[in-house]
Parts: sequence; structure tokens; C-alpha cells
Amino acid sequence: MPIFLDTGCLKEIEKYLKMGIIRGVTTNPTILLKDGVTGGMKGVRARSVEIARLIDPLPLSVEVTTNDPLQMRLQAQELAAMAANIIVKITIHGPNGEQQNLEVIHELEAERGIRVNVTAMMSAQQCLLAAMAGATYISLFGGRIANMGYNPCDEITKLRKVLDDFNLKAKIIIGSTREVLNVIEWLGAGAHFVTVVPNLLEIMIVHPYSKETVRMFLADAAKIETQTEVDHLLPTEETNNNKRETVIAASKQKLVNQEHKV
Ligand code: E4P
Repeated sequence: MPIFLDTGCLKEIEKYLKMGIIRGVTTNPTILLKDGVTGGMKGVRARSVEIARLIDPLPLSVEVTTNDPLQMRLQAQELAAMAANIIVKITIHGPNGEQQNLEVIHELEAERGIRVNVTAMMSAQQCLLAAMAGATYISLFGGRIANMGYNPCDEITKLRKVLDDFNLKAKIIIGSTREVLNVIEWLGAGAHFVTVVPNLLEIMIVHPYSKETVRMFLADAAKIETQTEVDHLLPTEETNNNKRETVIAASKQKLVNQEHKV
């Protein structure tokens, strides 16, 4: 089942984990902030450890909170050391297009044995380079690609083909999911995983027509219950026959009595 949950909320993770329908969790600073994390890197570490323990051995992606390459390396080592299932998330480049991140990604994967999820990517080209640098996961932002007027499916299909053709180990995570339809479409186009927010997962499960159908089943089941109780009160065929025989016997006896009187 190729679905990750895009959240920092423990309650939501626990809920869908128990259903057996998620295979990992992804986070980023925006999601963690929305889900109540405060206190800088300390707060990020604390929530990450909780999630990592909860979903172990499934993977949890946690993003570094800095654009400084040295700090990035330190945070990556710190995060990876906290739990074996933590994957370090690093953006493809800095806010002004700074290109040092790929060097950090390559070093972490090739020399330090730290698994990296390269994020904030909007094209197959960016993802290919991240895969070549050695990334374990490459995160393509489907919803944002669509917002720019391009079809995410085209990017996914092209990307999956080059990964397979050149035997690159990276797995595609498609995120920035906006609609239920995205999930099946993007997996069909070749993504290895789709990461979805809890609200979207709920919409995937609950369908208005399924609700109506379940209501019909339950209403008819209740009618069957009532029907069973009435059946107990009605005479069965056997009791009818017995009654008939008793009446016939009584009539015969009456005739015999009358004959005796005569
Ligand atoms: C993926 O890992 C990202 O956390 C996420 O899907 C980003 O999506 P957004 O476009 O909603 O910020």
C-alpha cells in the first residue's frame, strides 16, 4: 500500500496506523507548525521521536530547519541518530537557488549512511539530479506543479522511466496532494508513494453513496429483526394441523354421543 501520511499530528497518525492503510509519515516545518510544534529544533526533535516510535519500523521524513550547509549536516546527523526509521528531508536548493544542498545530500547518503528525502521539487529534471546525488526518496510536489499549469502525471511518468532505465535507487514520493483523484492518478503514472494529509484520506474512505447504501442495509436488517419477532407469535403450519385434527376428533365424538342417545 503506497500511501504516506503528510502530518505531524500523533492522533491522526495513530488513527490511520490502526487501520493499516499508511506506510510512512512525511512532515515539513509548515506542517509541524500547523500541528502545534514550537521551541525550535528541540520541539522538532521531540515530536519526531514520538512519531518515529509510534510508526516504527515505517519511515518518517523530518526536514532540516536551516539553509546553512554546516548546520544542515549537524541537524541531519542528529535527526538520523534519534531513530533508525528517520529519513532526513533536505530541499533541492536554497531560497535563492543556492546549490550547496546537493553536495550535502550526496555526502550524507554516500559517506555517512544517512537516508535523505530531497524535497520541494517541481520537475522531473530536479528529481533526476537528486536521484543521481544518491537520495533514497525524491519528493515531487504534484499540486504545486498543477498550480503552475503543468500536468504532474507527465512529470511522474518521465521521471519513473529514467529511474528504471538507469537503475537509480531513489523512490518517488508525490506530495502536495490536493484532490482524492490525485492519489490513483499519480500512482498510475508511476509514483512509488503518494503522501496525503489526513483530511484527504478521510474523503478517500467516506463516500456519500456508501453512506446511503449502509443506511439501507441497516434499516432492512432492523426490519428482519422485527419480522422474526412477529413470526414467533404467528401459528406455524404444524400447530394449524394439530388444531384441525383436534376439531375433527371433537366433531366425531359429538356424533358418537348423539348416536348413543338415540
Ligand atoms: C511532501 O512531503 C510535502 O510535505 C507536502 O506534500 C507539501 O505540500 P504542500 O504543497 O501542501 O505544501
